[in-house]
Amino acid sequence: MARNKYDVDESLETEFNIEHLKRLWTYVRPHKKDIIKTLLMVILTNIAILMGPYLLRYAINVLIPAGEILKLVIVAFVYLISIVISMICLKYRIRVMARLAQNVIADLRRDLFIHLQKLSFTYYDSRPHGKIIIRVVNYVNSLNDLLQNGIINMITELFSLLLIVCFMVSINIRLTLVSLAGVPLLIIVIYIIKNIQRTRWQKVSQKQSNMNAYLHESLTGIKVTQSFVREEVNERIYERTSDDVRTSHILAVRSNILLWPITENISVLTISLMYIAGVSWITNASLAAGDFVAFTAYITSFWAPINNLGNFYNQIIVAAAYLERIFETLDEPVTIKNAIDSYELPPIKGEVEFDNVLFGYEKDVTVINNMSFKVDPGETIALVGATGSGKTTIINLLTRFYDIQGGRILIDGHDLAQVTLDSLRNQIGVMMQDTFIFSGTVMDNIRYGKPDATDEEIIQAAKEVMAHDFIIEMENGYQTEVNERGSRLSVGQRQLISFARTLLADPQVLILDEATSSIDTNTEKALQIALERLLKGRTSIIIAHRLSTIKNADRIFYISHGRITEAGNHDELMALKGDYYSLFMGQYKMFNDDKEAG
Ligand SMILES: Nc1ncnc2c1ncn2[C@@H]1O[C@H](COP(=O)(O)OP(=O)(O)OP(=O)(O)O)[C@@H](O)[C@H]1O
Ligand SMILES: [Mg+2]
Repeated sequence: MARNKYDVDESLETEFNIEHLKRLWTYVRPHKKDIIKTLLMVILTNIAILMGPYLLRYAINVLIPAGEILKLVIVAFVYLISIVISMICLKYRIRVMARLAQNVIADLRRDLFIHLQKLSFTYYDSRPHGKIIIRVVNYVNSLNDLLQNGIINMITELFSLLLIVCFMVSINIRLTLVSLAGVPLLIIVIYIIKNIQRTRWQKVSQKQSNMNAYLHESLTGIKVTQSFVREEVNERIYERTSDDVRTSHILAVRSNILLWPITENISVLTISLMYIAGVSWITNASLAAGDFVAFTAYITSFWAPINNLGNFYNQIIVAAAYLERIFETLDEPVTIKNAIDSYELPPIKGEVEFDNVLFGYEKDVTVINNMSFKVDPGETIALVGATGSGKTTIINLLTRFYDIQGGRILIDGHDLAQVTLDSLRNQIGVMMQDTFIFSGTVMDNIRYGKPDATDEEIIQAAKEVMAHDFIIEMENGYQTEVNERGSRLSVGQRQLISFARTLLADPQVLILDEATSSIDTNTEKALQIALERLLKGRTSIIIAHRLSTIKNADRIFYISHGRITEAGNHDELMALKGDYYSLFMGQYKMFNDDKEAG
């Protein structure tokens, strides 16, 4: 069985790349102030907390033997205040860090979106959209934990660790050394399990991506699924992808909890060691009892930060798997972009020329074969030909959605590759076969290509293309909300809205992939009139399906295997009795006869 895209894992980066973390830091750096504020809070909290055992030691060693009740009460009160301070600091710190995490995440999301909008059709052709979406939404969000708690926890824990060691050293150096004995062992263990964890978390990210890809595809194709009663088959496929996520996640989590019991064991071992040493030193009187009590308190707080650092380390490993994907997307090269010496395309008259153009979507598969033609300003060209012959491709090249591999495309004598993309696309209007309608009002949709258009201009454009009548019949007229993809509009209505949208943008060159679906005669007439108005005074290239459009064109190009094999107006091509003649006799004649008979 051929493997679907949603079954294919995205490739892995094999080595842990510290660059990813450094790059994440560039997003955190602008919020340095927040971090410094939080650090101050952390220092205060820590000092407050660590005061405890010190006060305890003072009470046991000095105050209690001397029976100084008043001082003891004061010490207890200081202890209480230190706890209150640490609580306030903690609350503040949580607030600031939540803000920081969300700011960083928002910045990343924004950069991803900006970059995605620049990427070429080739990028989107080659991967399921679900796999792109999950990066912007879930992967980015999964950094929240690391940012909100991880970073600051790490600094906090390192800091308290340092502080504890200082306190410990100040009490007794020998005992401190005994307590630190387990640390090298821990470092070795971390180093060993690192790679297991890494690959497992990468696996999770891949499986999540696959599941998302399948989900996205299923929802997009839900109508086909339901009409072919494919629900059960799809359910099984989805279950499989979902199962992969589950098992890989369980496996990954298992590798994360590897660290905890190991740390725990090492800590128990070292603490026992310390007890043995401590007790024997007390017996031979080389250690004060109060020192030892304080030390036992510190030793537990010594292993707590180490355990937490282990958690942080796990977070880093998880985040690294996602960061890899996020930065991969951000680094995806923008292939269709302005040339270094590009210039603005001046206002055009609308002369279009293909000069020996060679193009294929994939290497070694030529779709456009050394094609040459010239269209005069104001001329209307109809492209006809068998399915898959390359008509849509010609259109894709004219707007530079793809770059050509040979030859040149010229507009008013300017090479397409040399002018800026914006100035080019602003002067060329494209209407795709399947008109895309965005969620929002009808008005918004017409305004799409010219955001500063006034309501009057929009209504004028709609009237011009015969869309006004059906729009005002809708319940809220121009303010009627339409859904994404325009599911509440008919195909003909969508076309008319797209005509209005294009007319409003007023491009000098017009490109139209005509909808194939047959429409009722009234709409057909409306569309024809609308189209005539739209074409007036513009150079137009139309992939024509309707006979009226073809007959009204100044010239017809018959496309076969990426070449223009016949060119001329309807009568000339009919007289030629070639491919166009056959197409016409086979397709349109029959349609006409039907009409006459009906
Ligand atoms: N994004 C793509 N990636 C790879 N190959 C493609 C892509 N789009 C089209 N092709 C291939 O290029 C060839 C020309 O396709 P094109 O869409 O230009 O045909 P067409 O003439 O518009 O057909 P139709 O009348 O059915 O719309 C076809 O063989 C098609 O398989
Ligand atoms: Mg096509």
